[in-house]
Amino acid sequence: MARAFTEEKWEQLSLIGEEKEPTTTDGSNGSAFSDPAFVGNKLLPVHRWVPWIAGFSSSFVRDALDRHLPHKGTVLDTFAGVGTTLVEAILLGHKAIGFEINPYAALACRTKLNACQIRVEALRDMIERLKVFWKDKVSIDYTPKSTPPNGFKTRADFYSPKVLHKVLIIQDFIDAIKDTSLSDLFRLAFASTMVRYSNYSYEPSLGRRVSAGREEIDDFPVFQTILDKLREMEEDIVWLQASLPQGTPSSQVINDSFLRYESHLSASSVDLIITSPPYLNNYHYNRNTRPQLYWLGYANHPQDMRRLEYLNFGKFWQTVRELKCVDLEFLAPQSDLAERLSILRALNPDRGIYGGNGWANYAASYFNDCYRYAQRIQYVLRNGGTALVVIGNSILQGISIPTDQYFGEIAATVGLKVVEIHMPRTTRVGNSIIQSDVRVAKAQKSHRLYEAVVELRRP
Ligand SMILES: C[S@@+](CC[C@H](N)C(=O)[O-])C[C@H]1O[C@@H](n2cnc3c(N)ncnc32)[C@H](O)[C@@H]1O
Repeated sequence: MARAFTEEKWEQLSLIGEEKEPTTTDGSNGSAFSDPAFVGNKLLPVHRWVPWIAGFSSSFVRDALDRHLPHKGTVLDTFAGVGTTLVEAILLGHKAIGFEINPYAALACRTKLNACQIRVEALRDMIERLKVFWKDKVSIDYTPKSTPPNGFKTRADFYSPKVLHKVLIIQDFIDAIKDTSLSDLFRLAFASTMVRYSNYSYEPSLGRRVSAGREEIDDFPVFQTILDKLREMEEDIVWLQASLPQGTPSSQVINDSFLRYESHLSASSVDLIITSPPYLNNYHYNRNTRPQLYWLGYANHPQDMRRLEYLNFGKFWQTVRELKCVDLEFLAPQSDLAERLSILRALNPDRGIYGGNGWANYAASYFNDCYRYAQRIQYVLRNGGTALVVIGNSILQGISIPTDQYFGEIAATVGLKVVEIHMPRTTRVGNSIIQSDVRVAKAQKSHRLYEAVVELRRP
C-alpha cells in the first residue's frame, strides 16, 4: 500500500491520544495561562451546551481577559466556534464580537448570547408544551409532517426507523415555534444531541458507529435526551442572567469569514482578540457537522458544503493536494518555513497525491491564510491592543511544523510585535504518525503535538 495514512486516520492521529505532559511539581502547567483545552467546559453552565473539537476552556479565556483587559473594552474572536470567548467576555461586561463561518456553530454562539434576554417563564412554558405535544403524538398513530432533509445523503441510514419517527415528531413541534429566540434554543437542543441517537459517532471525525466497533442504534429515548438538554439550558440561563453585570450586554455574531471582515469592522476598533483558528491537522469542521447543517436547513446541497470549504481558514489537504505547486505568497526572510516546505515537498513522490507535494501545498495554503490573517489583525487592533492566538503545531509526513513559531514570524512581517509564545499544554500522539524518516535536523527534536498561545501586540 503506497499511501501513508488515510484521510480519516490522519485526522484521528492528529487529535487523539491527548495524554498530558507532566506538569510542574506544584500542579500548575508552568505557563502564564491555564490549560486551554475545551474538556473543562463540559461541566460549565452555558459552555456545556454544545461540544466542539479544539474549542478552548472558559478558564483560559477568563485568565486572558483578566490579564489583558482590566477595563471594559471590545473583545473579538475571529474563529468563534461555539462562543467560549464571547460568553466569557459578556460575563465580564465587555462588548463581544465573533466571526464564524459554520452556521451551526454561529447558531450556538447567537443562542448563548441571546440567552441573556430570554424570558425564562416563556421557555418553561414552551418546554411544558413540548411535553404535552409529545405525550399526545406518541400515544396515537401520528404521521409527522416533517421529513428528513432531502439532500442529506449518508452511506448507511442515519437514523433507524424508530428513532427517525421520534425525531420527526419533535421537528413538527420545533417548526411551529414562532418566537425566534425560543426556536433557536430548541433547534440547538436537538442539533447538539442529534448524533447521539444516530448510527454515526464522533471518533473524533464523524463516521459510522459500526466502523468504530459500536452497535447500531435501533431505538433511543430521543424525547428524554432533548428534554434533558432543554432543562440544562433553562438552568444555565437562570445562572447566566443572575451572573451578568448590570445593563444589556453588547454582542454580535457574524456568520462569515474573518478574512472578509471589511464590511463589519473598522480600523483600530478592537482592544483584545482571543481566538483559535483551525489547526494544520485537516480537521474538517464542516464535514463533521453535515448532520446538523442539513437538519437545521443550512445546507440543502453539496454546493452549500463546498462554499463553506472554500471559506475555511487554511483550506483542506483534499482541495489542494492535486495542485502542481502552491507557493508562499509572502516573504519572511527570518524564517526557515520556505526551506522546510521544500523539504516536505520533495518527500515520497512515488505516493502521488498522498506524498510530500500534496502536504506541502496544504501547509503553504495554510500559511498564506496566516499571512492574510495577520494583516487583518494589524488592521482591527487598536494601538497597544493584544491578540492571543491559540494554535496547534503539526507533523506532516514526519516533518515537524511548528505553526506557532511560523505564525509569529509571519505576524512580525506585517508589523505586529511577538510578545511571547506561551506553552500551556502539550499533547502526545501514538507513534504511527512519527515513523517516517525525518531529515530536517531542527525537526528531529520534536515529534510531539502541542498547543501554544501566540501573544501579539500592535505597537
Ligand atoms: C478551533 S475552532 C474554535 C473554537 C472556539 N475557540 C471555541 O471554544 O468554541 C476554529 C473555528 O474556526 C471556524 N472557521 C474556519 N474558518 C473560518 C474563517 N475563515 N472565518 C471564521 N471562522 C472560521 C471553524 O468553523 C471552527 O469553528
